[in-house]
Amino acid sequence: MTDLEEPKGELTLRTLAMPADTNPAGDIFGGWVLAQMDAAAGIRSSERAKGRTVTAAVKEVSFKRPVKVGDTVCIYTSVEQVGRTSMMLYVECWVRRQFSQERQKVTDAHFIMVALDGAGSPRVVDP
Ligand SMILES: CC(C)(COP(=O)(O)OP(=O)(O)OC[C@H]1O[C@@H](n2cnc3c(N)ncnc32)[C@H](O)[C@@H]1OP(=O)(O)O)[C@@H](O)C(=O)NCCC(=O)NCCS
Repeated sequence: MTDLEEPKGELTLRTLAMPADTNPAGDIFGGWVLAQMDAAAGIRSSERAKGRTVTAAVKEVSFKRPVKVGDTVCIYTSVEQVGRTSMMLYVECWVRRQFSQERQKVTDAHFIMVALDGAGSPRVVDP
């Protein structure tokens, strides 16, 4: 099955799903997928905020399909809202199946990222 849908946002991170990241059933751990999405949200939000950010919340995570060993994992990010010190990012995880052109959306979620100052306190983000 190939999605007619296209990825939303900017390609922020691309990596390979390895055997070390599997669960006992042989598919990739959901926690590993979330970690890649969190890293991408961190990259994109710190670019937007021009400095350090942290993950304050992750909302509405949907695991739609499994990730398999050998898949190329592609994380797309969109900055949907900028608040005073926080940003809401929409993050999608797509895979390209091993040795295939087939591309599928596997997971999506909203990440709330907060800009921090040098002391670790929330910092205003430029509008
Ligand atoms: C995120 C953190 C800096 C927020 O600190 P805080 O003192 O609660 O700050 P505030 O209450 O002023 O919130 C800051 C902003 O984050 C938003 N926010 C905080 N928690 C939120 C949540 N659960 N959902 C949505 N927004 C949230 C606030 O609405 C506010 O947004 P705004 O400034 O754009 O209006 C603090 O809770 C923290 O350090 N958490 C740990 C982060 C971390 O270690 N993440 C890695 C996971 S292990």
